Amino acid sequence: MDITGTTRIAHLSDAHVLDPRPSRTRAGWSMQVRFLSFGRPLDAIGRRQKLLRSLDTARRVGADHYVLSGDLTEIGTPGEFETLAEILHDSRIDPERFTLVPGNHDVYSSADAWRWALAGPLAPFARMSAGEPGKIVEVGGANLMPIDATFHQPVTRSAGFIGEEAVRAIELRAGDMSLQGRPLLVVQHHPPFVRKTSALHWLDGLVGATRLMHALESFKHLFVLHGHLHSIVNRALGCGVARILGATAVCEDRDAPRVRLYDIRDGQLQSAGLAS
Ligand SMILES: [Fe+2]
Repeated sequence: MDITGTTRIAHLSDAHVLDPRPSRTRAGWSMQVRFLSFGRPLDAIGRRQKLLRSLDTARRVGADHYVLSGDLTEIGTPGEFETLAEILHDSRIDPERFTLVPGNHDVYSSADAWRWALAGPLAPFARMSAGEPGKIVEVGGANLMPIDATFHQPVTRSAGFIGEEAVRAIELRAGDMSLQGRPLLVVQHHPPFVRKTSALHWLDGLVGATRLMHALESFKHLFVLHGHLHSIVNRALGCGVARILGATAVCEDRDAPRVRLYDIRDGQLQSAGLAS
């Protein structure tokens, strides 16, 4: 928070970090990685540089906190999480200024990948990142709720999952009088939208989205920061400010970074544009 009482949050997503030494564990890139990176070059160094460039930009424009909304890695192997941790440390930003949540890609390699990462290479980031339902991370003028909305699935599916327990935990926190007066930002990988067809929703949507949308409609200070769609999203519920906010994919940045910013001031969240 600066002297004007403003807290600036940088929202980055979908870095899809690759292990530059994948042959440590197997012969070259696995078929899983090749399948999932279809259309994106398998350029581990390039992806690393894009994430570092985004973090540098965010710091330059005065970010107080850095949210990474999932698909941190390509398939969630130990080597990819170790590479991610190296990049975050190389940014020289205090680990306690990061809030990380997993995306569907981060648990393709194993159901335990996220838990393993938090206990291993991402341990310095664990206190501020997705853990048990209901977890609150206080960041200047806002409260964050980082959520693990993933489950282990084959690489041919890209859905998310938010269960009744997690939505109830959000509702309990949203209704908590001691947390009123500041925006409550749910951070998760998938947007809470219901897709056009049930087949598409099963394949790529958030299972449990209807319940989460209901919670969003009930509490005006509740927001969702998400990734997954690799595009900017600003969705209001009824009239009022946009409360479902999506970020572009770092791995798809070209000549310049695209760092989404929010300013929290006087208990209000305002989009502060894209820094590049
Ligand atoms: Fe995703």
